[in-house]
Amino acid sequence: MRLIFTLFAILLCGIAGAQPFGQSQNNWNGISGDRTGQHQNTPAHKRDTLPGEVIVVPVVVHVLYNTSDQNISDQRIIDQINSLNRDYRRRNADTVNTPAAFRDRAADVQIVFALAQRDPHGNKTTGIIRKYTKTKMFMPDDEMKFSAKGGDDAWDATKYLNIWVCNIFGRLLGYTPMPGGDPKTDGVVIQYSVFGHGNGLSGPFNLGRTLTHEVGHWLGLKHIWGDSECGDDGIDDTPRQQSANTGHNVFPKISACSEDANGDMFMNFMDFSDDADMNMFTIGQKKAMRAQFALGGDRNSLLVSDALNINGIEEALQDKDWEEVVRLYPNPTVDYVIVEGRSLNDINGKYLKLYDMQGKLILSKRIQDERTRIDMNGLPGGLYMLSLEDMGERKMFKIVKTASGFSH
Ligand code: ARG
Ligand code: ZN
Ligand code: CA
Repeated sequence: MRLIFTLFAILLCGIAGAQPFGQSQNNWNGISGDRTGQHQNTPAHKRDTLPGEVIVVPVVVHVLYNTSDQNISDQRIIDQINSLNRDYRRRNADTVNTPAAFRDRAADVQIVFALAQRDPHGNKTTGIIRKYTKTKMFMPDDEMKFSAKGGDDAWDATKYLNIWVCNIFGRLLGYTPMPGGDPKTDGVVIQYSVFGHGNGLSGPFNLGRTLTHEVGHWLGLKHIWGDSECGDDGIDDTPRQQSANTGHNVFPKISACSEDANGDMFMNFMDFSDDADMNMFTIGQKKAMRAQFALGGDRNSLLVSDALNINGIEEALQDKDWEEVVRLYPNPTVDYVIVEGRSLNDINGKYLKLYDMQGKLILSKRIQDERTRIDMNGLPGGLYMLSLEDMGERKMFKIVKTASGFSH
């Protein structure tokens, strides 16, 4: 088994003998998906999450329409993803509505979602698929997840969050299997009429919170009432409550098993309140969701998905021998990258220079440590080049900064 695994790892890695960083081989990610001569979609090495890392999840949206109304616009999809990102970064406008009693446990989950830029074959994509279907109404039986049944096949669930937007029967807004299930049915299904944010949507589910809620399930969260009378959601800082809250409620709302005078956390995204009444995840829920991305977690592979790398230019610029000496992560990133040398000796005293694609120098830093942090906060999303410079020598690396972390 061990041997098979090792052989497999070498095949994936593509470069025999390339085993940098001794035992930390498992940690190697950097730019391995882009090694010259390799297929773009070669899986990269695993790595763990970094403390404080903003995790970027590549997304594919499968729009299945029977009427033109159901063929929702690109703009609505973008509005929805932006809304999702605000909720997961606690940048939603309604954080002020979180009751003071719960505010200190409200969390910036530090996970963001970005439409994929590469499809499973390595080709450029918008991350949006549109498909006419003869099915007027889907049942929650997963048929929308199969092309042969009037739906659209999932993209590799180890690399993408699949979202199917379609007309679902009844008043079900969405449904999602928990992590660890069949990859062919892994992902979120959303009723088209509640997919989006504001503009053009009406009723109590018009602020995109159905997706926020369903993605919570996709990351392993249970409903806040634990799906049974006064049940347990497995999260310490969500108070026990009797059952689902629906519609509009006023704080404090005491139910049969309330732990204290603060009552139910009906404004939690994992309750069933109206969109306008939901505004928070807790620190406990954040920990549970992020744990899915850690080594051994069901969502770990998403950390090294190559779905957001930009094709084309990078191969010529990538310097093969240096990949054994230096690695960069996370990449793509939202706010910073770490440049790590195999040893301090290999890189000490060299300069790191960050350029945009116009060649404009953004910052320059002298290496004095095995790990150097390059702050990319405040820079627009897009492609950047990082050069590692010595006297006369210059090695270039590509960094993708994803824009969707800071949408408004
Ligand atoms: N699966 C839940 C339902 O269909 C989603 C609830 C989402 N709640 C919301 N306010 N958007 O009812
Ligand atoms: Zn739910
Ligand atoms: Ca709880």
